[in-house]
Amino acid sequence: LDATATPSSGRLQWSTRLSFILAATGSAIGLGNIWKFPYITGENGGGAFVLVYLACILVIGIPLMMAEIMIGRRGQQSPPNAMASLAKEAGSNSLWKIVGWAGVIAGFLILSFYTVIAGWSVSYISVAADTTFVGKSPAEIGSMFESMLNDPTRLLTWSTLVILVTLFIVGKGVKSGLEKAVNILMPCLLVLIIVMVGYAMTTGHFMQGVSFLFNPDFSKLSGESMLIALGHAFFTLSLASGAIMTYGSYLPKSVSIAKTTIYIGIVDTAVALLAGLAIFPIVFANNLEPSAGPGLIFVTLPIAFGQMPFGTIVGILFFIMLSIAALTSAISMIEPSVARLVERFKISRFKACTLLGFSLWLLSVGSALSFNLWKEEKLFGKTFFDMVDHLTANLMMPLGGLAIAIFSAWIINKKVSQEELGLGKGVMYNIWLFTMRFITPICIVIVFLNALNII
Ligand code: PFF
Ligand code: NA
Repeated sequence: LDATATPSSGRLQWSTRLSFILAATGSAIGLGNIWKFPYITGENGGGAFVLVYLACILVIGIPLMMAEIMIGRRGQQSPPNAMASLAKEAGSNSLWKIVGWAGVIAGFLILSFYTVIAGWSVSYISVAADTTFVGKSPAEIGSMFESMLNDPTRLLTWSTLVILVTLFIVGKGVKSGLEKAVNILMPCLLVLIIVMVGYAMTTGHFMQGVSFLFNPDFSKLSGESMLIALGHAFFTLSLASGAIMTYGSYLPKSVSIAKTTIYIGIVDTAVALLAGLAIFPIVFANNLEPSAGPGLIFVTLPIAFGQMPFGTIVGILFFIMLSIAALTSAISMIEPSVARLVERFKISRFKACTLLGFSLWLLSVGSALSFNLWKEEKLFGKTFFDMVDHLTANLMMPLGGLAIAIFSAWIINKKVSQEELGLGKGVMYNIWLFTMRFITPICIVIVFLNALNII
């Protein structure tokens, strides 16, 4: 945010179109693309899952991202108030603010486990720097990861550090430095992933990886897998979690919401698919299991770093970039809560961060311990980490998305969406409206009922 660019409404604004794109792309690209997408794809059988995920991005994620940015920019407040004021303007019920609240809370909950995984990434910077991957067998690299998971102190140290850094940056409200960092580091991350894809091509199992990712076998696709694919489309685009709506509220009027959204959607999807192309050939070349779970990238990529030329430096850089990508996403998850507290209680950003920090940290302890001391403490067969992940990605975000679709296409005045989106008033606008009115809600409902075995 650039505090000098204060518009007449008095609200902070992004200094340029580029800053918004960078911040929103920074929010979107993160652990979701590089850590979560490959491991859930592996757990859910590959190709058919990827196809459902891509379809969800296209028909649900992209139009919904436009809707969220629009609500934020038009509302000029935190998500709950933005939704309440647009509802009021349209003569509807102010209870719509609950949907905004659900998003803010979802973002906060996600952050509580996101910081733990980001901690793994930070920790692996030093593991890579100790040249610990070189000359190690896949089994040895696997047990290195296991021993990290089994060390609660180590996990808590790093996740606490991630929380402190995130809150410090958000508390200061200085984003301009960070925007510039994103501008340089995101392309670097992309280059590194492409280098890893290049390495994957030399493993002799590249085509097996390609076929795992893109050859759909629908017999492997359960109703639950479809819900996970849908939930991940929200997660990866930072939707229904307050982030994009809040960032949208800082967006200058002159920027085309439609163009910006399409750009973000394409880049985010490309990074996820490239990460998959880098990882699965290594999985098959080393006889690992695609369904290895959350540790997948922390085992496969180090194998590659241990074998490829300049692997140590590539490994160090990779985990640095991944940690920064995670940080820019983490910042966007807590920003909605901070914005709301500041707006409501007129306290400083720093105070708001301190207040939120403690409860955030407590929740993160629950996730960190889910991998060791509390591994066997399960409710409905799920650890604390699994539960928070499931609750947000497979319940709160799809339902929140459903509500936002209905709100943006049925409740608020058509004039508002026509003015805001930058799609004109013709065919493109009508496609958006029809999708948001019918296709998106129907798809979400079908996926839900199907996952619950009702249809
Ligand atoms: N989109 C981020 C990723 O793919 O890593 C995760 C995320 C960021 C989810 C912000 C939700 C959010 F509000
Ligand atoms: Na993402």
